[in-house]
Amino acid sequence: MDLLIDVPVLVAAQQKMPMTKVVVADPKAGEVRVKMFASGVCHSCLHAYDGSHATPMPMILGDEGSGIVESVGSGVTTLVPGDHVIISWLLNCGTCPPCRDGKPAHCWAPSPFGALLDNTQRFKNAETGESVLHYGPATYAPYTVVPESSAIKIRKDMPLDKAALIGCSVTTGFGSVTNAAGARPGESVAIVGCGGVGLNAVQGARVAGANPIIAIDTSDAALQMAKKFGATHLINAAREDVVAETLKICPRGVNYSIAAVGSTKAMQNGVEILGAGGTMVILGAPPNGAVLELDPIFILGRERGIRGSKYGSSNPHVEFPMLIELYLAGKLDLDSLVTGNYRIDQSNEAFEVLAKGGAGRGLITFDQ
Ligand SMILES: NC(=O)c1ccc[n+]([C@@H]2O[C@H](COP(=O)([O-])OP(=O)(O)OC[C@H]3O[C@@H](n4cnc5c(N)ncnc54)[C@H](O)[C@@H]3O)[C@@H](O)[C@H]2O)c1
Ligand SMILES: [Zn+2]
Ligand SMILES: [Zn+2]
Repeated sequence: MDLLIDVPVLVAAQQKMPMTKVVVADPKAGEVRVKMFASGVCHSCLHAYDGSHATPMPMILGDEGSGIVESVGSGVTTLVPGDHVIISWLLNCGTCPPCRDGKPAHCWAPSPFGALLDNTQRFKNAETGESVLHYGPATYAPYTVVPESSAIKIRKDMPLDKAALIGCSVTTGFGSVTNAAGARPGESVAIVGCGGVGLNAVQGARVAGANPIIAIDTSDAALQMAKKFGATHLINAAREDVVAETLKICPRGVNYSIAAVGSTKAMQNGVEILGAGGTMVILGAPPNGAVLELDPIFILGRERGIRGSKYGSSNPHVEFPMLIELYLAGKLDLDSLVTGNYRIDQSNEAFEVLAKGGAGRGLITFDQ
């Protein structure tokens, strides 16, 4: 049965998203429809909203969310209505060799941007009948439809508002250190950009036993949060010389830097502070067309490296439940991450706060 919802729809970059009546279709074969509980406000969606990343429109945004399965399409075997789920923003096929290998970021047949796996939408403008595009899982909607493989069942005693954060920032940041960098106890990690994603890289470094954990940001509020999450040293990139200050803490440079902001300036710093054999992990997504300039001799001379990481190089089916266990055991702080609470009709305000550099994560909670 089609459902009618009121959602913010991106119709033009740098313009407020109007609340719009949209019809949500039934899930097709291999899909589930989820009644959303909460959705975190990620800078990736802000990149679409502010026009720094080219985005097709009209589109429903949102890449970080949790909810309860409302209905399932034919052939769905792993979920039933009533299951609590975290949505993975990687709409991957679930069956190709990389998917089977637990590497959904390498999927051979992911959904095209704006659509589900079959290249069609489940949202239509209720007045015009025009299709409305999905930003990945489109979690800024009271109901959304995703492939079965992108709704990961979780235990029912996990608070769904905290669970939503695991859908992007927690898994991405944490996994950048534990999976992509593979930091070991006692290795040094510097996190450049300590917003929603970077704070969780700090947590990943803390849980991995890294030392020192150097937080670098242009905002004192973000740095104070990083300290709470386990950073041992703080550097304000707006006031201090990042390279000189880092070398005072680690005279031979750091083992790993995590670039968790979409800024090539920050990435430049992330490379310059690497020690011999050190690796920078790129998480942040600079504006379209931005180019990172490198001195190849600096890279080759001491065998430094740079690698990208999508979603913290994680396998959400394994890592979402693991992160929940860490949270419930008191070893992962999700409670302090949320610094702003919003209703779905306040998503424009949530973006404006994030754009101004508001520390921590905003969270949209849906009426139940
Ligand atoms: N790779 C992935 O899978 C993935 C997943 C999620 C988000 N992202 C990207 O990661 C980036 C961060 O996302 P977020 O939601 O944490 O954003 P955010 O806005 O919450 O955090 C960015 C932080 O960087 C700081 N900052 C800005 N300029 C800086 C500089 N020059 N040096 C140091 N710090 C600086 C800001 O003060 C802020 O604290 C975005 O580009 C987003 O698109 C990537
Ligand atoms: Zn995100
Ligand atoms: Zn696949």
